[in-house]
Amino acid sequence: MKSDRMLRREWLAGTGAALATLTASAKAGAVLDQTQTPTPQASSPEEEADRIRRMKWWHEARFGMFIHWGLYSVLGRHEWVMEDEGIPVSEYELLAKRFQPKPNAARAWAKLAKETGQKYMVMTTKHHEGFCNFETKLTNYCAPKQAAGRDLVREYVEAARAEGLRVGFYYSLMDWHHPDGARCAKDEEARKRFIEYTHGLIHELLNNYGKIDSLWYDVAWPLDAAGWESERMNKMVFQLQPDIIVNNRNRLPGDFSTPEQVIVAERGGRSWESCMTLNDSWGYQQADDNWKSPKTVVRNLITCSRDAGNYLLNVGPKPDGSIPEESVRIFKEVGQWMAHNGETIYTAEPCRVRRSNYANFTRKGNTLYMHIYFWPGDTAALAGLMTGVRSARMFATGQKVAFEQDRFRVRFTGLPAEAPDHPVTTIAIECESEPTQDTDFVRRERPRNGV
Ligand code: GLC
Repeated sequence: MKSDRMLRREWLAGTGAALATLTASAKAGAVLDQTQTPTPQASSPEEEADRIRRMKWWHEARFGMFIHWGLYSVLGRHEWVMEDEGIPVSEYELLAKRFQPKPNAARAWAKLAKETGQKYMVMTTKHHEGFCNFETKLTNYCAPKQAAGRDLVREYVEAARAEGLRVGFYYSLMDWHHPDGARCAKDEEARKRFIEYTHGLIHELLNNYGKIDSLWYDVAWPLDAAGWESERMNKMVFQLQPDIIVNNRNRLPGDFSTPEQVIVAERGGRSWESCMTLNDSWGYQQADDNWKSPKTVVRNLITCSRDAGNYLLNVGPKPDGSIPEESVRIFKEVGQWMAHNGETIYTAEPCRVRRSNYANFTRKGNTLYMHIYFWPGDTAALAGLMTGVRSARMFATGQKVAFEQDRFRVRFTGLPAEAPDHPVTTIAIECESEPTQDTDFVRRERPRNGV
């Protein structure tokens, strides 16, 4: 992503040289934003039906745990530390002698994910640094053959399954360690070797661990789809794992889009998953204290669910495999909320009620869930609800809520002065039909008095 961002900046600078670079690399396909959805190829009704079948569990899951863990965790200065500090490969490699996590650290991740209400996990099998957390015949730069002395991906897979969670593999195509990882862009022999290596590692990952539920490609620098032989890559993936789903970062549209650090719904009903850090880094960053609050996390999850998207929330375990205490605290608080409000998230359908300055919304059938994050006191109101309200209740306790409705607003009255739930309180509103909202109607039609 960073390299793409850099290219955009160069472009904005607008120098002739920068523009020449851009044109050249655009030809090589290097300037595509990873989060941008490549133009979908026409797919047959059979392919579409198969996608719906494969994606079903994922739509119902809604909330997943992303795990960034690798040699960078030893330094604790972000997963881009190798590139951002210009660390030579020979120096960086030595971290493989120091990365010695405690056995089965992944069990605690999986337990935490489950407690948080997350239904799937996605772990970095290989990040940009090139180190493989798994057993491979293709390189010695892998956990079992280095200080760790064991297959960390296998431990993760077993841990996730033990908690009944779906298993996802993150795999970075960009590789800062492999000798052909950069020169593959200019040297055809190097590209062939690197493609064989890349496809070989993916083959091992999808062949050696039983059923894998999702494959999460990342950063396709420096090649385009033709260079990566992405069509052949995905074909192999589906041959090995007929039920798997794949994302869109190998320069093909795949099954879902991956907005990063933002929540933006895809148009046209395409599936999407917003991935997000809990502080400012994916990998462990010891000094990063810019944590999102549990309230922010719950609000984000609600926003994803409102627009039928998924939320993949990251943890960056320490080198020993333990999750930073602050992350655990935040996840647990989110989990407490999910334990009694999860139903408003998992089964939600796209919601057309969106406007309030203290609440957000999800919907199931004719039931509107008003999720109040800034508690207004004894009355909460909503403008422009175009549907009649039949009844309302506090979702967590089932307690009835009184309401008054006219053409322009509905008011929920007799509420407690303090928010009864934390960090967000949810009112379930039964409507006569699918709830919709039109605040323009309110602005236009509300009776006005003289000046
Ligand atoms: C970006 C970053 C990478 C991170 C990924 C997660 O592509 O380069 O470090 O793994 O986003 O989406």
